[in-house]
Amino acid sequence: MKTLFNLKRSDIIVIAALGAALVFGSCRKGGGPGDTIRVGEFASLTGGTATFGQSVHQGDVLAIEEINAAGGVLGKQIDLMTEDDQSKTEDAVASVQKLVNSDRVLAVLGEVASSRSMAGAPICQMAHVPMITPASTNEDVTKKGDYIFRICYTDLFQGQTMARFAYNSLGGKRAAILTDVKQDYSVGLDDAFKNTYTFLGGVVVSEQSYSSGDKDFRAALTSFEGANPDVIFVPGYYNEVSLIVRQARELGITCPILGGDGWDSPQLTKGAEKEFNNTFFSNHFSTEDPDTTVQNFIKKYQDEYHAVPDAMAALGYDATRILVDAMSRAHSTDSAKLRKAIASTKNFPGVTGSITIDEYRNASKPITIIKIVDGVYHFAQRIGPNGEAETPFKP
Ligand code: PHE
Repeated sequence: MKTLFNLKRSDIIVIAALGAALVFGSCRKGGGPGDTIRVGEFASLTGGTATFGQSVHQGDVLAIEEINAAGGVLGKQIDLMTEDDQSKTEDAVASVQKLVNSDRVLAVLGEVASSRSMAGAPICQMAHVPMITPASTNEDVTKKGDYIFRICYTDLFQGQTMARFAYNSLGGKRAAILTDVKQDYSVGLDDAFKNTYTFLGGVVVSEQSYSSGDKDFRAALTSFEGANPDVIFVPGYYNEVSLIVRQARELGITCPILGGDGWDSPQLTKGAEKEFNNTFFSNHFSTEDPDTTVQNFIKKYQDEYHAVPDAMAALGYDATRILVDAMSRAHSTDSAKLRKAIASTKNFPGVTGSITIDEYRNASKPITIIKIVDGVYHFAQRIGPNGEAETPFKP
């Protein structure tokens, strides 16, 4: 037997190359033993934004069950390995490290929250494991490297759309903004909204901030009253938004309150159905969309989970199906080939619209604006990927 001391120079070169392949993931073949392909998923199944993780997980599982029932992909069944990051950035890092380094997954699905996707992405990039975030909209997520993709639109598009909607469709010329400074998502969306709103001729009359976990927003909201805004933009996550809208209405603020996809949760309006009247948010799909892909998905989801799917569930389902579609087009479990196949996704018929991955690994697709009436999310308008109205606004 050879020991480390009697290896030839050529042996050492081979071992070094193998080590480098392990570290940098070049020519990485994937995902698990025998007749399964391992796909990893990191999600906030518990903690501050638990409904995000639970919904996306249910969407992922539904897609995988369907795919496996139809024979799997590349002649193998898919094995979904799930890590709960408890809605914490540090745990997101540990989750992805485990999936990539111990479980040796072929690809990673996740996360929903942009900050956590950005924490996990460098690990996937280093190991050349393709990562697809179903729902992280912050601009910087896919800039982490050429193995990092998203199948949702970006906050640039989302912020521009809501600014145009506020200015043109609602006719609001004065906006106040309340931002969660602890979330990359909220800060990025605030920026995109502000730039477009002022470009259009609107005035941002007051800006206030808070931190995830805060419970009392009355001081910020009271300062808005003096500024007399026509609309208030709150680019936050559902937990805080739920309290912000309640407290705003208690203080007598009746103007429209607008937000982004972070509002979407079955928890958002619970117990505050009336307070949420005259609110609008941009989302990824609407259950009222008559499109057959959407309606079939809703039916399958309800049969399985006895609940109505939210946007994360739809995005999880789409992300998983896009990943598996790319695996079958790659004809291989080689990670570089899989990366190329994901990058060349074109007009994929998703529940959240027709999805094309662009040169920056972002998704070009439509956006849906939701109007909340007595706690029910109604379809208000769909805007195409170039900002064009695909449907008229239903006030
Ligand atoms: N877009 C949000 C983010 O990037 C997450 C989110 C997506 C929330 C979809 C709700 C619905 O952090």
